[in-house]
Amino acid sequence: MSPSHLLERNHFEHAPVAVFTGSLEASRMVAAEIATLMRARAREGRPCVLGLATGSTPVSLYAELVRLHREEGLSFAGVTTFNLDEYYPMEPEQPQSYHRFMRTHFFDKVDLDPACTHLPSGTVPKPGVDAHCTAYEEAIQAAGGIDLQILGIGRTGHIGFNEPSSPRHSLTRLVTLDPLTRRDAAADFGGDQATPRHALTMGVRSILNARRVILMAWGQHKADIVRQAVEGEVSSRVTASFLQEHANALYVLDAAAAGSLTRYRTPWLIGPLAELGLAWDERMTRRAILWLSQLRQKPILKLTDDDYNEAGLQDLSRTHGSAYEANLVGFYQMQHTITGWPGGRDPDRAKPGDAPVRPLRAPSATVFPKRVLVLSPHPDDDVISMGGTLCRLVDQGHEVHIAYEVSGAGAVSDEAAWRVLAFVRDSGLAETANAARLDQLCQALSGVTPVEAAPELLRWKGLIRRHEAISAARVCGVPESRLHFLNLPFYAAEARRRRYGPADVAVLSALLEQLQPHLLYAAGDLDDPHGTHRLCLQVLRDAIAQAADKKTAWLAAAELWLYRGAWAEWPLDEIDLAVPLSPQEVLRRRRAIFRHETQKDQALFLGEDRREFWQRTEDRSRRLAQAYNSLGLAEYEAVEAFRRYAPGDFVRTAAF
Ligand code: F6R
Repeated sequence: MSPSHLLERNHFEHAPVAVFTGSLEASRMVAAEIATLMRARAREGRPCVLGLATGSTPVSLYAELVRLHREEGLSFAGVTTFNLDEYYPMEPEQPQSYHRFMRTHFFDKVDLDPACTHLPSGTVPKPGVDAHCTAYEEAIQAAGGIDLQILGIGRTGHIGFNEPSSPRHSLTRLVTLDPLTRRDAAADFGGDQATPRHALTMGVRSILNARRVILMAWGQHKADIVRQAVEGEVSSRVTASFLQEHANALYVLDAAAAGSLTRYRTPWLIGPLAELGLAWDERMTRRAILWLSQLRQKPILKLTDDDYNEAGLQDLSRTHGSAYEANLVGFYQMQHTITGWPGGRDPDRAKPGDAPVRPLRAPSATVFPKRVLVLSPHPDDDVISMGGTLCRLVDQGHEVHIAYEVSGAGAVSDEAAWRVLAFVRDSGLAETANAARLDQLCQALSGVTPVEAAPELLRWKGLIRRHEAISAARVCGVPESRLHFLNLPFYAAEARRRRYGPADVAVLSALLEQLQPHLLYAAGDLDDPHGTHRLCLQVLRDAIAQAADKKTAWLAAAELWLYRGAWAEWPLDEIDLAVPLSPQEVLRRRRAIFRHETQKDQALFLGEDRREFWQRTEDRSRRLAQAYNSLGLAEYEAVEAFRRYAPGDFVRTAAF
């Protein structure tokens, strides 16, 4: 394997790591290693035994192996496979079953002999589980042991389903899933309640017995646990750390999953940047100074030469001449991110002495008022993520449009739908012809009869959210005539099978062409739990690429910003635009979020964080304001932050 981007291993990393720009490139390299192994074994007339994983991580690996089979004649005829795990209990035909996953993504698409594929069974009766697990281990031994084991990593640090405190010597067995693992899986099962509590998994020892182990991880949400596994001590608290003890293990990461490793986060700790092929450019300088300010718990302008020296940043203060000069570079970079005029000022009302509106720099910077387009993946992401900025843009006289990309119907509970349908039924407004159907649906939604997956029900759930969005936009001063409900086609598929395509891109391209915005805001999350934000971002990337190919004038003049959804904030050193909010604006944003009633207390996708969306939003934007303040900048009530969209951002972390 020859990774395209493999820095020298450094003393922080206790296992070999290969970092690739994106997961597709990384998966291709892993597939190539598998193909080489298979061909070598076929030449020798020996069987090849692969250990396989499921989940979102290996999807692109299986796609590449299928491609190699179809286009390059790679045959799986002599291959035996053993999968790591299966939920328990679990019928093999259930949509969430790993048996079904493997058939859909891999087994049914290549020439593997079904008799040579093995997975733990989720249907073995409880008393037979131990014997089943022993037989699984024996089958691995009988096949000659695993040649190459593929792994993903859970956010608990698990490999297979070896959750924290699984011992080094563990073998295949029945385990209880960690609450975080269950929450990560909950979207696939339609909520916490239906998510299994147990699984059958190969043990840590079964995995480490493999002759070669490759652990793959994509996305920022894996970055912290990857750092612990690679740079932390070997411990059963993070079972992936046991790979450090394997003689032939490799971590294969995309740039986002590698982002917390010392080599990227704080490379100056490894050695002089020049020796690492890096430079003290603006970003790196800012990152180091913010890190130092947080480490010493001092505002930037109070950092001294001693602070720089003791933290190993002599290199930086020397580059700038002194700590004082370096401080100014970091301080002004942060100060210049702040503006209360996210769309610029009305030139007719300019007064001498007005501070410049610094972050704006596109050719349209002086256009006033601007046409603004906020792209909101779900109907509430706009107000949750940038509600304060949205209100400011409207109040400052800009023409603000909001486009809701998907209906969000999947996150409306049956109970919420029942309330609305029962109201229509009981109001007497429904036509008699529909009364029986309404009654039938109300019965089903209130649990009297089983709920059928009626397509009309999903449409109505979508309508409920649409009206919540209209109502929330009204709080922000955006009239219904400037709201665009795109209903991107990809959302119609079952959650875990969603892929975007040209039809989605065409819908968004048409809107962009129609509005030709001067300012565009989009959700920059690549790690949202359900993947919708990531898909929406990919649709935008393609629509923008098409507009760029056509040399569209509006795009050349436009300013493009990414906001972060409810899940995470931008790291301070990545923020390009920070909009401060007053206490009144925070309350107005809260009122707008409240209009999304179906998402209150029962939202299906809250993830591990049990706070409601308005609380997350307020905590997050207040914490950001405090972070700015502790750097020595002004004290605001709250801050909403944005990052400039740079082409290439998206490719880096695309998971599929
Ligand atoms: C799956 C498995 C798990 C996953 C891990 C990451 O067979 O054993 O360890 O690899 O939970 O899941 P994803 O890839 O969905 O992030």
